[in-house]
Amino acid sequence: MWKPPEKIRFEPQPGRWPDSGEAQASRLFSPIRLGPQQASTIEMASRSWVPAMVPWRASEDGFVTSDVLDWYRRFAEGRPGAIVVEATGIRDIPSGPLMRIGDDRFIAGLSELVDTVREASGGKTRLFIQLIDFLAIRRRPDPQVYFDRYLEITERHRSALGGELDEAEIRARLKAMSEDELAGVLSRREMESLRLGYRERVTDMDLPQIRDLPEQLPGLFAGAARRAKRAGFDGVELHYAHAYTMASFLSPLNTRPDGYGGQREKRVRLPLEVFEAVRAEVGEDFAVGCRFLSEEIFEGGGTIEDACYFAQRFAEAGMDFLSLSRGGKFEDAKQPSIGAAIYPYTGRSGYECMPGHISDEKGPFGRNIGPASRIRAAIGKAGFKTPVVVAGGVHGFDQAEAILQKGEADIVALARQSLADPDWFAKVRAGRGREVRVCEYTNYCEGLDQKHKQVTCQLWDRLDLDEPGIKLAAEGKRRMVAPAWKRSGGD
Ligand SMILES: Cc1cc2nc3c(=O)[nH]c(=O)nc-3n(C[C@H](O)[C@H](O)[C@H](O)COP(=O)(O)O)c2cc1C
Ligand code: SF4
Repeated sequence: MWKPPEKIRFEPQPGRWPDSGEAQASRLFSPIRLGPQQASTIEMASRSWVPAMVPWRASEDGFVTSDVLDWYRRFAEGRPGAIVVEATGIRDIPSGPLMRIGDDRFIAGLSELVDTVREASGGKTRLFIQLIDFLAIRRRPDPQVYFDRYLEITERHRSALGGELDEAEIRARLKAMSEDELAGVLSRREMESLRLGYRERVTDMDLPQIRDLPEQLPGLFAGAARRAKRAGFDGVELHYAHAYTMASFLSPLNTRPDGYGGQREKRVRLPLEVFEAVRAEVGEDFAVGCRFLSEEIFEGGGTIEDACYFAQRFAEAGMDFLSLSRGGKFEDAKQPSIGAAIYPYTGRSGYECMPGHISDEKGPFGRNIGPASRIRAAIGKAGFKTPVVVAGGVHGFDQAEAILQKGEADIVALARQSLADPDWFAKVRAGRGREVRVCEYTNYCEGLDQKHKQVTCQLWDRLDLDEPGIKLAAEGKRRMVAPAWKRSGGD
């Protein structure tokens, strides 16, 4: 993963922990209603949130497994205000072990997941599911294979090589060229496919499946949301963030000429149409919000001004919550090795998404709070109170409480800190914050995610491996869920 050149090493700074009285009286542990005026029927018991994290535990065909149930049960035991279930594919297409919700056959498993979380949290935790669409992406090819099989030979290549060459000769000539020479013959996209692997874009209007996205996606998202409602979820989070389809519509790189690209007003059109289709399908008594980016963090990418504008439009449309992430783009990602796929969290934008402990002078904690605060103010200026959820390096009570007290956000999300200790919420509420296993922001978990390996935390995955009945990850060395909270004596 990319690291800021300053390479300053930060220790976690959880600060002071409150006693139980202070915790119970805090804003963090006070309830909040969702909705544009915070008046929806959906109330959260506290302003804490476990954002979506893919743990790679679904079956190869996208079903909920017993490992998925164990994973979310463990989070639910800590009783956060809400858990957002990992990015789940809305199409009925093979997507590897990514969870799916693109057909009614997925409902039974998802329903079991809802029951598991309800039971483990005593009904105290709201459960949402993140709905994702993504475009085709291929692994970085072996150059020989690329020139033999993938590259479509065109007149452009023939004339650049200056002759009446047949296809086989062109392929042979290209195979023998250096990268510099190739740059003079291949188009930018062809060079990119060679160097990084082929990747579709929302601007590929020559591809029918891309051209038709505005027709297809509202129905696909609405169908997925209907299934989520049937399975018993409290709501859905539309994934409009990071490197995926909907974020690409919002990005300034979206220059589609069909009324869905160009100026901000047009880039936000499909995200709004998707929301409207979803709302029409599920009604008002089911939470519908989205996750989007406060900034894209690459040259020419979406800015905070864009995000303020989108937030106002989403609030005005009636979204129930707006969850803010940052970065996580393909545009600045590192070149993958041959045979691997490009991973959107390997460049600077990836660092901003999941800031690690080696940082610049700003440090890894709360880098998204300033932008979130601006976005929340813009929503307020437009007359809405849509709850804003902020994530990024939050691990201490004082830090979380200050965000809420200062009105920088309405709900605080802890991703890696919840992974390090799913009992963070219960411990802090009980005045036992000193028992929290504090995240060190090493990004070991994120490294596992990159390799599509079952995600665990280095602070607990080798602990008590001889405990009876514990499940181990595929390679047999790591426990799959955090050990139970063994309360220390005393108060
Ligand atoms: C293993 C892992 C998987 C993640 N998967 C998702 C995901 O499915 N959807 C999403 O929006 N963000 C995902 N994220 C990003 C987190 O939700 C969160 O925004 C990020 O980790 C920053 O918050 P933190 O500093 O509290 O960890 C993932 C993060 C990690 C570490
Ligand atoms: S592996 Fe554990 S300690 Fe390291 S960043 Fe992930 S959650 Fe935090």
